[in-house]
Amino acid sequence: MVCSKQSHLLLVFKYSWLWWVTCISVNAANHTLKPGDTLNTTDELCSENSKYCIKFYQMNPGVNYTFLTINDNGKDNAAVVWVANRDQRIVDKDSAVLVLDKSGVLKIESNNGVSIILYSSPQPSNNTVASLMNTGNFVLQQLHPNGTKSVLWQSFDYPTDTLLPGMKLGVNHKTSHNWSLVSWLGLLNARFGAFSLEWEPITRELIIKRRGQLCWKSGELRDNDGSMHNTQYKIVSNENESYFEITSSNDELTKWVLLETGQVINRKGDDNVARADMCYGFNTDEGCQKWEELPSCRNRGDAFEAREVYVNSNLKTYLANTTYGTSDCRDICWKNCSCDGYTRYYTGGTGCVFLHWNSTDGANFASGGEMFYILVKNTYHKGTNKWIWITIVAIVVLLVICAFILILTFKKRKHMFQDKKRKELKTRMLDSTIKYLEDEFKNKQDLKVFKYTSILSATNDFSPENLLGQGGFGPVYKGILPSGQEAAIKRLSKTSRQGIVEFKNELMLICELQHTNLVQLLGCCIHEDERILIYEYMPNKSLDLYLFGCSRTKFLDWKKRFNIIEGIAQEQQSTTNTSRIVGTYGYMSPEYAMEGIFSIKSDVYSFGVLILEIVSGRRNTSFYDVNHPINLIGYAWELWNQGVPLQLMDSLLNDSFDPNEVKRCIHIGLLCIEQSADDRPTMSHIVSMLTNESAIVALPQRPAFYVERKKFEWETTSKEFRTTTTEEITASSEI
Ligand SMILES: *[C@@H]1O[C@H](CO)[C@@H](O)[C@H](O)[C@H]1NC(C)=O
Ligand SMILES: *[C@@H]1O[C@H](CO)[C@@H](O)[C@H](O)[C@H]1NC(C)=O
Ligand SMILES: *[C@@H]1O[C@H](CO)[C@@H](O)[C@H](O)[C@H]1NC(C)=O
Ligand SMILES: *[C@@H]1O[C@H](CO)[C@@H](O)[C@H](O)[C@H]1NC(C)=O
Ligand SMILES: *[C@@H]1O[C@H](CO)[C@@H](O)[C@H](O)[C@H]1NC(C)=O
Ligand SMILES: *[C@@H]1O[C@H](CO)[C@@H](O)[C@H](O)[C@H]1NC(C)=O
Ligand SMILES: *[C@@H]1O[C@H](CO)[C@@H](O)[C@H](O)[C@H]1NC(C)=O
Ligand SMILES: *[C@@H]1O[C@H](CO)[C@@H](O)[C@H](O)[C@H]1NC(C)=O
Ligand SMILES: *[C@@H]1O[C@H](CO)[C@@H](O)[C@H](O)[C@H]1NC(C)=O
Ligand SMILES: *[C@@H]1O[C@H](CO)[C@@H](O)[C@H](O)[C@H]1NC(C)=O
Repeated sequence: MVCSKQSHLLLVFKYSWLWWVTCISVNAANHTLKPGDTLNTTDELCSENSKYCIKFYQMNPGVNYTFLTINDNGKDNAAVVWVANRDQRIVDKDSAVLVLDKSGVLKIESNNGVSIILYSSPQPSNNTVASLMNTGNFVLQQLHPNGTKSVLWQSFDYPTDTLLPGMKLGVNHKTSHNWSLVSWLGLLNARFGAFSLEWEPITRELIIKRRGQLCWKSGELRDNDGSMHNTQYKIVSNENESYFEITSSNDELTKWVLLETGQVINRKGDDNVARADMCYGFNTDEGCQKWEELPSCRNRGDAFEAREVYVNSNLKTYLANTTYGTSDCRDICWKNCSCDGYTRYYTGGTGCVFLHWNSTDGANFASGGEMFYILVKNTYHKGTNKWIWITIVAIVVLLVICAFILILTFKKRKHMFQDKKRKELKTRMLDSTIKYLEDEFKNKQDLKVFKYTSILSATNDFSPENLLGQGGFGPVYKGILPSGQEAAIKRLSKTSRQGIVEFKNELMLICELQHTNLVQLLGCCIHEDERILIYEYMPNKSLDLYLFGCSRTKFLDWKKRFNIIEGIAQEQQSTTNTSRIVGTYGYMSPEYAMEGIFSIKSDVYSFGVLILEIVSGRRNTSFYDVNHPINLIGYAWELWNQGVPLQLMDSLLNDSFDPNEVKRCIHIGLLCIEQSADDRPTMSHIVSMLTNESAIVALPQRPAFYVERKKFEWETTSKEFRTTTTEEITASSEI
């Protein structure tokens, strides 16, 4: 990798100055300072094992600043591992001196009046000693008379950019003191830089922040003792402190350095512990955290790479400001679309130089040139990404289309299945109804179930020319039946269209009302939704005649109506079973509706309803009055109670009636529809009552089903009333 090689190269560069300083140091040293001792710029204080030395060090020979540093004297590398005065620079490099005075204050002084106090005891003590330990820790201790020592101050509590074994990252809960690394600002500038490496005790992970912004996470470290990038570590968490520390596994010295680029490297610089330098803000790979979007002019895979290049000065712009460090220059360049590279302006690594080129003309990549971080546009990756995206989008689109087709197919099949079921049910019902009607009509010589095709041919496909007129229940056509007979064919309109069961019962009712004075019903036809009645054709008679139920005609005068009533009463008397009417709303006796009990008195009930219908010229089921939310039965009962029963009469009857006869009929009708079946008269009694007024003895009681049908339906449902009739009705309503 170009990057890691480069960082290794930079490290060598960084430490080469150290050798220069080390060489000129003269005083081979002791590892302690006693009260009153000083350490001047030509001295150094080394640990017993000679691995570390503390001394004044001029990091950047270009400037006269000097720093008190602890240096790693290791064979392969020599490096600053600690700096005492990062942001407090000593300008006079020759007069600086480290002093442990007799009152126990540890401080740095110089001729120009600078005094940097490292430690000042609250209680003055001349019994202290400052020692550089073999671990690289510079410790100020107090010696007690009983021979023990206690630590007053130690450099390990103030880490800089280097983590040594025994140094802690974390927090002291007792003192709220934090241990964290902060990178240098530039390669040779030890001032506080942009990056910090911290231990997050709650999530148990190492984190890197750039100027306070989280940019990298290690992820949770599960083991208290583990290994990370060839470094052994230990995690301690108790009521006093929570921290992470690296431990030296063998003789070889272990350390981590947080570079000014955001990278964390191990001792040799050949292994990256963390690459926060690869976190651009939008990417989340390798522990990087996202904190902003990709700038519009940048692409995924674009990255800065260190290159040596000769550049025309007209391609450069400068930011000569020492507060900007390496990573600040990078950040500015990344966000500026006209920027193609950056490097430091000052030798220490601060300030910025930016590259802007129209083309790479004027730039010559060759060793020996200036070291620049060049933005390399990763066209290969870009292309790959593009194709990956195109593939993904194509697959997603295909999947969506497939799912859509599947759903549609499924829905259609379901629909077809339901349609089929519905058709089957309908056909079954039609078939059974037709069969039933045919059976019923067998004993009635003239009644017949007609085929739909024969009706179509009879009416010339319901042609307008055949239309006789429009009745309340639908149009009536003239037609010639296959037998050659003329017929009036009533095609029930959709709005009045009933369920098959109701139609069937209605038909039977009409059959009962067959009378010499009425138009003759020849038969019916049921086909799918079609309900058709076929009557004999009587050219001289009004069309309304065919429309039973709303026969508002003078033709049916009272005499005829009374004859019909009498006639039915006699037919009923002779037949034992007239369950035909049963099941049609408004004709069901209460005991049948509620309990399914059918008796001869149930017929009487139906007959009662019929009488009231014939008198009033209105059907019980079709009765509707906004002011009277009751049915025909209720209406008749109320008029009776008010002493005006004659108001029930069909207004078309005019004066052509015998009021006593009408009243008698209403009286009988009301007797027939009484709640209690026992109270209702027998058929033979009815016949005698119709002919002989003196035969009527009882006054009518409150009838059953006084209220309207809706309420009745609700009541029966609430009593969980289920008979084949209601089931059929329910089924037929689905058709
Ligand atoms: C080093 O310090 C020890 C006491 O800590 C002292 O005995 C010894 O003489 C010192 N050596 C030098 C060279 O100053
Ligand atoms: C530093 O101190 C040593 C004695 O410890 C002395 O010989 C040397 O001259 C001093 N150097 C300076 C620059 O004061
Ligand atoms: C560094 O100090 C020397 C004298 O000690 C002086 O001549 C030189 O100008 C100084 N350099 C800078 C950059 O201040
Ligand atoms: C240290 O301080 C004590 C009193 O606190 C004094 O008696 C002693 O003489 C002092 N020693 C030195 C070397 O100054
Ligand atoms: C030694 O003396 C110090 C201060 O007087 C005291 O805090 C410490 O506990 C003593 N240690 C022992 C082992 O007695
Ligand atoms: C230590 O870090 C915590 C969390 O980052 C912070 O709240 C606290 O103020 C810090 N304490 C010190 C002394 O810097
Ligand atoms: C925490 O500190 C107290 C006193 O400073 C000490 O007694 C105790 O042992 C410490 N606890 C741990 C777990 O080190
Ligand atoms: C350098 O930059 C800082 C912060 O951006 C600014 O406050 C300061 O004035 C600048 N210094 C110079 C010399 O431009
Ligand atoms: C980008 O850099 C160019 C050249 O230094 C400068 O002129 C321009 O203002 C910068 N743009 C932004 C948005 O900072
Ligand atoms: C592009 O390069 C030409 C020639 O080197 C120069 O004159 C021109 O100013 C440059 N344009 C920009 C936008 O830097």
